[in-house]
Amino acid sequence: MAAKAFISELKDYIGQDVTISGWLYNKTGKGKLLFLMIRDGTGIVQAVLFKNNVEEDVFEKCEHLPQESSLHITGHVVEDKRAKGGCELQVKEIQVVHVAEEYPITPKEHGTEFLMDHRHLWLRSNKQHAIIKIRHEIIKSCRDYFDNLGFTLLDAPIFTPAACEGTTNLFEVNYFDEKAYLTQSGQLYMEPGAMAFGKVYCFGPTFRAEKSKTRRHLTEFWMVEPEVAFCDLNQNMDLAEGLVSYIVERVLENKRDELETLERDISALEKVKKPFPRIDYDEAAKILKEAGSEFVFGDDFGGGDETIISDKFDSPVMVTHYPANVKAFYMKNDPQRPDRALCVDMLAPEGYGEIIGGGQREDDYETLVQKIKKHDLPMDSFKWYLDVRRYGSVPHGGFGLGIERTVSWLCGRSHVRETIPYPRMLYRLYP
Ligand code: 4AD
Ligand code: MG
Repeated sequence: MAAKAFISELKDYIGQDVTISGWLYNKTGKGKLLFLMIRDGTGIVQAVLFKNNVEEDVFEKCEHLPQESSLHITGHVVEDKRAKGGCELQVKEIQVVHVAEEYPITPKEHGTEFLMDHRHLWLRSNKQHAIIKIRHEIIKSCRDYFDNLGFTLLDAPIFTPAACEGTTNLFEVNYFDEKAYLTQSGQLYMEPGAMAFGKVYCFGPTFRAEKSKTRRHLTEFWMVEPEVAFCDLNQNMDLAEGLVSYIVERVLENKRDELETLERDISALEKVKKPFPRIDYDEAAKILKEAGSEFVFGDDFGGGDETIISDKFDSPVMVTHYPANVKAFYMKNDPQRPDRALCVDMLAPEGYGEIIGGGQREDDYETLVQKIKKHDLPMDSFKWYLDVRRYGSVPHGGFGLGIERTVSWLCGRSHVRETIPYPRMLYRLYP
């Protein structure tokens, strides 16, 4: 009996017979030959069917087999240097598992809404498949990076009693007799965690009721959030820069095929090198002014502004010291310039926008109480959070890296909707 193999392993079976199981991706024919492109999730291989080698009804059945029908194929593996996987399969036997109905996604062009409605099937397509593979590598690199540095994983809750990132985009849910919110960020839970474990991170889905329809916003997205005790803004930036350059390195090393499938400009990613440029808000504002932007000094940057700033650099740029009043309540103010926050945003190159937000946290009890009041947040919900400043308060900081923004940058996809298996957006809850 022929050995069972995945398509990605076929190179190890050259000269032998194997059985693969998969789906018909595409087919072409020429006289007595049928070329079946078979995919099994690990790769794609061409299976060549010669009429004289199989029963007549098998050949005929395959000639009319619809796209995405599932099958077992036994055949002889031969080397083919031109093929992507380096080999092809000469078919000896075919067993059809299921004859598919007419498949809605064909090689012709489809509109985005149509593809989004068929997201569950669209994931089978070449490019979408490559994006999800790269996403997996990015997520694994994040975990490896922090694990290798001795961080402890501390999962944050999804149901929360309080807002972390402002009250305007909260998803409210009924929690028995109380109101609860879906978490916007695990940060507030990482801060006490850092006091317990020194350095921690959480990795999970976060939620924001974003009413705006932009190419960078999802209502449900994944974030990795480290938090470190005895850490100032500069040390925090070292950590962020280390993470992002590690992710890029890993993707270049392990996911080159997928980048090529996506026709990503790989040379742009190869230019990403530590140290990343560090500029403050004022220098960023100067870049905008010189570029003729309508940006008003004192405001937060818009998406277009971020593109103008990041276009100046090959590597991601870290922008620090924003005006405190455009940033969240938990940011520590710069003692040198009290109207500025000790914060950092990392902007990806090539106009992919902010991938990281973070900074040094307010570590003084009284100052934090004042900030909570100023932001009109319910003091009761933050009592536990204030405890971090009551029992051995220390300078500490951290950041959040948005996974989908990072995937969109590395994959060169302009819209985040393709960077997560099942996107959730203002007008998208299906499938
Ligand atoms: O800058 P943000 O809002 O920072 C925080 O949530 C902090 N509490 C993180 C921390 O310090 N622990 O969000 C962090 C990152 C952004 O830079 C962006 O990459 C991503 O999360 N992000 C989104 N991604 C997709 N859709 C959205 N609606 C996003 N909002 C933020
Ligand atoms: Mg931000």
